[in-house]
Amino acid sequence: MISVIPDILDFKAVALLRSELRSLRFTDGAATAGKFGQSVKKNSQLEQGPQAQKIQQTILNAVLASLEFEMVARPLIVRTPLVARYEPGMAYGSHVDNAVMSGRPPIRSDMSFTLFLEDPEKYDGGELVIESTYGEQEIKLPAGALVLYPTSALHRVAEVTRGQRLVAVSWVQSMIRDPAQRELLHELDTARRSLFDQHGKTTEFDTITKTFHNLLRMWAEV
Ligand code: NI
Repeated sequence: MISVIPDILDFKAVALLRSELRSLRFTDGAATAGKFGQSVKKNSQLEQGPQAQKIQQTILNAVLASLEFEMVARPLIVRTPLVARYEPGMAYGSHVDNAVMSGRPPIRSDMSFTLFLEDPEKYDGGELVIESTYGEQEIKLPAGALVLYPTSALHRVAEVTRGQRLVAVSWVQSMIRDPAQRELLHELDTARRSLFDQHGKTTEFDTITKTFHNLLRMWAEV
């Protein structure tokens, strides 16, 4: 399932991040690609340092504060996001991300996300293209919006032909390994919350809530 979550960052927050990023150094992104990805990865990445860390933490906090993110991803571990920049001529060809990401602790990458930091009118190209059973999905979102997609999918970033594409990307190990189970929990959770909003804490709400938690207990790996 591919999920879009708008408004992870509001207009002001994203503008502030962009201005902070303008004074920082970016380095060749190919350095962090694996052997097979190196030849197709043409972007630059925010160089690590105290200021970069602060920005990445701000982004991570905003993502973790989103209820919809929690409901879609059921995150166990969310890696600190990387900030990537694509200028004209830059692209990231078709690839799959590693299933296990090294680091402390290593994580199983169940879902990837891209948080868009630049207004779509400011650049041409730069769509995130995800291959799915429904065909290719092209995604280019407003600044502050995020897309979550299964890391199992082949994906690429179309060449930027004008302006710059600025994004934060990261990976999630979910408590729910199976994407179908994760989707069922998301639907059930969405339905029970809507039921509560419409009718309050009814017997039906309590029963569905009990079922939701019991399924979560049955499936969660923590
Ligand atoms: Ni990737």
